Amino acid sequence: MKMIVVPEVELASGEKMPRLGMGTYKVVDEENFNNSLQLALDAGYRHFDTAFAYVNQHKIGEFFEKVFQSGQFKRSDIFFTTKVRANFMDSKDHVKNCVELCLKELRLDYIDLCLFHSPFVMEYVSDHQEIVGDPILFVHDKQALVRAWQALEDLVDEGKIRSIGLSNFNSEQITRINNEARKPISCLQVECHLYFQQKKMKAFCESHNIQLIGYAPLGSQGPLGATSLGIATSFSSNAPLQDENVKIMAERYKKTSAQIMLRYQIQRNVLIIPRSTNKQRIFQNVDVFDFELTPDDMAELERMDKIERIFRAGGLKKKNHPEYPYDLEF
Ligand code: A2P
Repeated sequence: MKMIVVPEVELASGEKMPRLGMGTYKVVDEENFNNSLQLALDAGYRHFDTAFAYVNQHKIGEFFEKVFQSGQFKRSDIFFTTKVRANFMDSKDHVKNCVELCLKELRLDYIDLCLFHSPFVMEYVSDHQEIVGDPILFVHDKQALVRAWQALEDLVDEGKIRSIGLSNFNSEQITRINNEARKPISCLQVECHLYFQQKKMKAFCESHNIQLIGYAPLGSQGPLGATSLGIATSFSSNAPLQDENVKIMAERYKKTSAQIMLRYQIQRNVLIIPRSTNKQRIFQNVDVFDFELTPDDMAELERMDKIERIFRAGGLKKKNHPEYPYDLEF
């Protein structure tokens, strides 16, 4: 199978970032995971997206330490994204603690892109406190997000992070930070797929030079067990991968439905992090740079938007977190 060269974009920070990376949410099975990381490297993936909350960073760290020691790749060949969990965002010191933990787990001396995983600021209890938390622990201070951002800016100054950004924030929260930011918000990572295309958020980000990164670009095959945390729900009817119109279009291009949906995001300038642990699909998902969707097909895919969010963080909505982001349209 061929190795794909993934093109890059330049972020507001001035750093380069691959347009497509490997998502690792919910990938924890060790043997399978090491295999899929090696397959991803063989296929051409150079960006790996993880998070403190995924509880798999240490495995990524162990794997890449060996890769770098073997000389197969240099540190600068690979782009790592990680995310600070919301219960470290109540003070600058806790943000810094979380980033130090990420560096230690990933066995790196700098992180390429560090995001706030979500705006659900909570009081710190312990490194391993679950994200859903307790309403008593919710931080009700609107300045908390700004203060936490200042800690990320300091870490850029210290050389520990190259670019900084946000995830699962709404436009009001982004603006609140942007108004006081000393360093650019390089990226926003949010749910983005055929049935939830984020058109308004995309336009908003473009007007602020923030690069949109789409998670669950294939629709994530439903909630994957995340329902217990109230994070994700299923689609009301079929999932994007089962969409009959996409299947018909895919046959015309001699591609799979997944490749059509991934190519669509690439062509509309949304960075993507598809996730798979299956060899064939790992190769397939990165193989989206040798064809182009016609303007008519782009327009047809654009019309398929159902504005149907599945990652709704329902548990935090129910507990009335003051920073619950999805009551706003975008
Ligand atoms: P698998 O690991 O068995 O390939 P998302 O990236 O939107 O979160 O979606 C990930 C889910 O989609 C995983 O369950 C993954 O399963 C599945 N998947 C990944 N790539 C493909 C593909 N090319 N075709 C069909 N399903 C896919």
